[in-house]
Amino acid sequence: MKYLRSICIIALLGCTLILSGCSQSERNRVPSKLIEYDAKINDIIKQLTLEEKIAMFHGKHMFTSAGIERLGISDLAYADGPFGIREELQPHSWNPLGLTTDSATFFPTGSALAATWSKELAYAYGKGLAKEARLRGKDMLLGPAINIQRIPTGGRTYEYLSEDPFLSAQLSVGYTQGAQDNGVAVCLKHYALNNQENNRGRVDVIVSPRTMREIYLPPFEAAVKEADAYGVMAAYNKVDGYWCSENDILLNQILRNEWGFKGLVISDWGGVHHTVEAALYGLDVEMPNDRFFGKALLDSVQAGVVPVSVIDDKVRNILRVRLAIEPVPEENANKIMTSQPEQSRIAYDVAVNAIVLLKNSQSLLPIDLNTYKKIAVIGGNALRTQATGGVGAGIKALYEVTPLQGLQAKVGNRAEIIFAQGYKEFNRWTGGRMGPGMSRPSPYTEADPQLLQEAVKVAKDADIVLFVAGNNREIETEGSDRTEITLPSGQDEVIKALAAANPNIVTVVVAGAPVDLNTVEANSSSIVVSWFNGTEGGNALADVLLGNISPSGKLPFTFPVKLEDSPAYALKNYPQTDAVGGDIFVELVENKNQKEAKKITPNRNTALYTEELLVGYRWFDTKGIAPLYSFGHGLSYTTFEYSGLQTGKEKYGSNKSIDVTFELKNTGEREADEVAQLYVHRIGATVEWPLKELKAFERVTLKGGESKTVTLTVPVSKLRYWDESKHQWALEHSEIELLVGSSSSDIRLTKKVSI
Ligand code: GLC
Repeated sequence: MKYLRSICIIALLGCTLILSGCSQSERNRVPSKLIEYDAKINDIIKQLTLEEKIAMFHGKHMFTSAGIERLGISDLAYADGPFGIREELQPHSWNPLGLTTDSATFFPTGSALAATWSKELAYAYGKGLAKEARLRGKDMLLGPAINIQRIPTGGRTYEYLSEDPFLSAQLSVGYTQGAQDNGVAVCLKHYALNNQENNRGRVDVIVSPRTMREIYLPPFEAAVKEADAYGVMAAYNKVDGYWCSENDILLNQILRNEWGFKGLVISDWGGVHHTVEAALYGLDVEMPNDRFFGKALLDSVQAGVVPVSVIDDKVRNILRVRLAIEPVPEENANKIMTSQPEQSRIAYDVAVNAIVLLKNSQSLLPIDLNTYKKIAVIGGNALRTQATGGVGAGIKALYEVTPLQGLQAKVGNRAEIIFAQGYKEFNRWTGGRMGPGMSRPSPYTEADPQLLQEAVKVAKDADIVLFVAGNNREIETEGSDRTEITLPSGQDEVIKALAAANPNIVTVVVAGAPVDLNTVEANSSSIVVSWFNGTEGGNALADVLLGNISPSGKLPFTFPVKLEDSPAYALKNYPQTDAVGGDIFVELVENKNQKEAKKITPNRNTALYTEELLVGYRWFDTKGIAPLYSFGHGLSYTTFEYSGLQTGKEKYGSNKSIDVTFELKNTGEREADEVAQLYVHRIGATVEWPLKELKAFERVTLKGGESKTVTLTVPVSKLRYWDESKHQWALEHSEIELLVGSSSSDIRLTKKVSI
């Protein structure tokens, strides 16, 4: 299906989309708690001077914005997230304060949470984070980070959730509800289309309205409409020509008018570019300083360029959040957290349900300690902690159980564990300033002969080898994308040498994003992905490897055979270089004020999303490109049988829900979870669609031999597409095929119905 078409882009600033009034947005979202405070806020606004109002609109310190001291309204305290409460930094710099009272739980990072495919665990995750945020006196958590993983090399893929908008949306809702039900505001980030780290502060994302609505916005839309998110962080990049911190379409027309968002919009740190535009087009708080929203804004109001009504709207948005979130009394903040049993339990539950069993062809797993008495554990990632590293939010973890520690604790004296470093770990440039001719070290180096030789020796003497490979937080980091998905430090050479020395190889991949596993696949009898899996990660891994629990995680993104198979690379849309082709012309579909096509000259600052809807598995399925491991893939220590697919009806009206039921049976002996997935394929559609799209899933626990009737529900309204000519959602009446299975490439049951 020829998929590329000229790119229609979102309108320019100032266009006036005729949108139904707020009643429309009120109707299709949960009622917001925030508007309960409006009467009180209107009284407060009357008492404020213009200076007091404007003081609220920018950073007071690195992670606080001002309240109104005169009226006893506390400052707002923010904290990174999204996978733990960041240590305290100095008031006006990125340097840590070096306290002893700011340790925190390191929760498994985003892609691990996503691999659980559990809204309930996402809720618990948000609740755990909220508990610690309160302990530290924080009002708003800067998370969840929910941008779609468009490129496998994205530096923050480990922080984000999934390549799929539905999975991301479900988990964003759970996380938001868990946090806000427990007294802390979330801040959905980074709104929107911050899908790469390279050049993130300048890149202009050129994306079609339909693609933006159906792929990139759904996680934000769901968390606002279904979970009443209180905060949104405007991203660093531009979308269709306009900075996200001053994008009228994104902030005013979609977020507020269409979705009914009632909270505050905060900039990313240093992500504001203009005073008047940011003020008029939706930004409430500039962080971390007052370059644009301090005196410059005061002057703009006094000059009559920015109306006072706009200023009062910002005060309202901020005070809604302030009044909704109980301030933590100074004396209760920053309590030393010596233990956090509840949060540790949550971190463990997420970690153990996140681990994905990719392969187990000889059933080496679970490891039978009666058979295997000598276990070689090889690789620096076996004893490396992942709570900190690279740029951006790191956690001063109260503790972190590494894979080796977890194994030592759980194996005890039932077997002997011998460790070997295996490869030289990559650490980012830690030297002084780079001199002429010096270049940043690359993670992609040859194996270290000495370390490899030692590892082979240990492997030869062992009954079984656990090769702990993968990336670390210096390789996957905010601020830069990886240049390739190759395993670092010559790990491919190491695994080949280990396999030559011992056939019993289990490879554990510690990473937050896809890596090239071709050589690992060819040389390992079993492979698990154990993520950047948090404070309890080592215990969770040991429990899975030793069979104390069956693995149940499913991949939240595709592992390609090679990077060039993935869409943005295949279409040469990424990495961006200076204009390679000629100029391209785009239609200003949504801008009623201008009809002429806008000319874009692609260069290193232009990201053309010409793969459109075909992100992740949507591309591989539609183009018929086989991935190495599919979206949704994950094996178990037992097997599952799917049967008896039924739907209530054969034909469904536009306001109905399709209820799908089927029998799921655990056909093995041991208890395990299965994540059953439902995809939709369009038949005879006139609108272009990906081959299939995830529309429902359910994690089910089954004892050995047990079977359950599973019901999955798909509202027909979720099957609409964004009609770019009418600027609204539309439903195409057609036949669809329901595909139910254990992964996107392991479909067990199908059925056709009409909508
Ligand atoms: C960073 C990140 C954002 C973070 C903020 C504060 O640049 O992009 O995710 O919350 O600044 O640390």
